[in-house]
Amino acid sequence: MHFSFTALKLVALATFALHASAQNESSVATAFTVSSDEITTALKLTAGNHYNCPLPPWEKGSEPGWHYGHSSPPPHIPCLKHGNTCSLLEILDQPGCFHCPPKSTPPEYTKTFSNLTCAAQDDSYLTYGLTDTVEDCQTMCDAVDGCTFINTYHDNNAADKDYSPLLTCALFSKCLTASSADNCGGQGQPDGGIEFITQSYGYCKKKPTST
Ligand SMILES: *[C@@H]1O[C@H](CO)[C@@H](O)[C@H](O)[C@H]1NC(C)=O
Ligand SMILES: *[C@@H]1O[C@H](CO)[C@@H](O)[C@H](O)[C@H]1NC(C)=O
Repeated sequence: MHFSFTALKLVALATFALHASAQNESSVATAFTVSSDEITTALKLTAGNHYNCPLPPWEKGSEPGWHYGHSSPPPHIPCLKHGNTCSLLEILDQPGCFHCPPKSTPPEYTKTFSNLTCAAQDDSYLTYGLTDTVEDCQTMCDAVDGCTFINTYHDNNAADKDYSPLLTCALFSKCLTASSADNCGGQGQPDGGIEFITQSYGYCKKKPTST
């Protein structure tokens, strides 16, 4: 019962979004159709839910929560640079809800480690996703409250991201060093392969993001 009520509510929101855009002639061009699945995903992009990514990358069964970049993400991963999700987040405008990064220059970052074969693992984990570039990961950090540190790396042979060649972008609230990079991969995959990490870089931001 509870589930079907939630589904109805989401469909009502989708109708509202379409209605709101159609009201204003000058914004008709930006009208878009959303599915209730897209709304369900958008509502999961909150700080409390680690932005659609409650399990950190070092835990078995974790999946990237989002993609930020121009390339195509694996299916079911919401894109925060193009597509509907950003417009939807603006319309929903829930407390604690994510808003896509504005087109701003990221603040300065200091590299704290380079080219490791292990990724950072720390309780100050905020969220992780996929990006095309290190710069895109820094821009995402800018949009997440409390973000201070990014770890970008190639998570190779990883089924949880559909073997995507995109960079993994993990965000943390504490500035971390190489001593935190102790997730060295090695997770067995459903196809019998072993996942491994390369080109792991850490960058600390001079001033944490405050949104
Ligand atoms: C319609 O949209 C334009 C541009 O977004 C805005 O400037 C205008 O105030 C809106 N008009 C109404 C009636 O909402
Ligand atoms: C990164 O490390 C790998 C070995 O793990 C090495 O082959 C590669 O040349 C290094 N790249 C850079 C840019 O240092």
